[in-house]
Amino acid sequence: MQNSIATAVVGLQWGDEGKGKIVDLLTSRHDVIVRYNGGANAGHSVQVGAERYALHLVPSGILHPDKSCVIGNGVVVDPEKLLQEIEGLRARGVKVGSNLLVSDRAHVVMPYHKEQDAALEDFMAGATSDQSGSLAIGTTRRGIGPTYGDKVHRTTAIRVGDLLDAAYLRERLRVICSLRTRELKALGVQAPPLDPDALAARFAEAGEKLRPHITDTVYGLHDALKAGRRLLFEGANASLLDIDHGTYPYVTSSNCSTLGIPAGTGLPMRNIGRVLGIMKAYSTRVGGGPFPTELLDAIGEGIRTRGREFGTTTGRPRRVGWLDLVAVRYASMICGATGIACTLLDVLSGVDELRICTGYRLPDGRTTDRFIPDAHRLEGAAAVYETLPGWREPIRDAEDREALPDNARRYLDRIERILGLPIEMVGVGPDRRQTLEAVGTA
Ligand code: IMP
Repeated sequence: MQNSIATAVVGLQWGDEGKGKIVDLLTSRHDVIVRYNGGANAGHSVQVGAERYALHLVPSGILHPDKSCVIGNGVVVDPEKLLQEIEGLRARGVKVGSNLLVSDRAHVVMPYHKEQDAALEDFMAGATSDQSGSLAIGTTRRGIGPTYGDKVHRTTAIRVGDLLDAAYLRERLRVICSLRTRELKALGVQAPPLDPDALAARFAEAGEKLRPHITDTVYGLHDALKAGRRLLFEGANASLLDIDHGTYPYVTSSNCSTLGIPAGTGLPMRNIGRVLGIMKAYSTRVGGGPFPTELLDAIGEGIRTRGREFGTTTGRPRRVGWLDLVAVRYASMICGATGIACTLLDVLSGVDELRICTGYRLPDGRTTDRFIPDAHRLEGAAAVYETLPGWREPIRDAEDREALPDNARRYLDRIERILGLPIEMVGVGPDRRQTLEAVGTA
């Protein structure tokens, strides 16, 4: 008999669904919290009492001292950023030691990756297309795309395990830096040539500091499963930003849907019994790309303000829109969601009429209820809505779903019907305690 004691938590929209809080809540019922994709482009904010933590690389499980946290092989790690995060946590009294493990096969984000990311974005922003304006993706400029690019190119990649062998690292960087200096120059970057020896010394030092955490996490995770420990997979970014299944090319460079779990951790999918898809009660998106339900009016502005919709990683204002259930249903399908957590419902209090997108009208006049995971084709789709009455009452003090105003309950019921999935949790405020759970879903 296979174990199915693992749970996955994954965003079903374009990110920032409030996964951090849900992961934090589920952490108490698991033993090992695992990141499988992305890098410091992700940002989790978790509110614990009066303390607010913003984490980018370290799984938020770290805030629970008795849990283990794993950064899997599918993650791209900026070692200096990771060290900064570790130091920041320690300074606030959070224990970070053998409870944090980093895969020796995770790929390393180097400073030149960030330069490449920014230079390519600037180049693309200057190049316009007749149909969609700027060709820039609006990345976080954290070097994510170029690092995954090197992973695929192979010979120019550096992995976390390489940081532990200073001579090998220096030898590799001498070749890579000579190539990168030329490439950056071609992209218009006016900077002195990269100094491989200085870079090697700097990153070998970071490697030494991280040495106690670096290990083969694949065997570690299988051992944990065999020992009956309960695993929780924490998806970074979100399903509609998945490199294969999102709104390409306005996506990130990893498989952020649950499909990234096997490759990004070395654990087969059959071990995962529960997939909790996280969905905001409305939609947001950061950066470029199509957004059929985008609100460019005062309603959108109100949601942005009440929902504090500004990026955890870049501080950019997020684009805001009505709930797009065509997109969420598609994301639930590819992720194999078994249930939904609907977050930030309180932000919708006070909106007179709510809209839910249930289909797209295509340029030829036909309508479809299928998502279009291609930016260029999705640009031509217009949202088809159902309208539901809103509610005026604040709901942050509600203690269960039954205590919500009738129209809030109707909104949730309608979402469940359209998705064909139960809403197991409802977020009504930023604190851990402001999460309503359906009975029997622990
Ligand atoms: P990159 O991941 O920095 O390459 O950015 C690619 C796209 O994904 C950009 O539109 C980013 O704004 C978006 N993105 C990446 N990570 C996140 C996230 O965690 N939340 C929201 N958007 C993200």
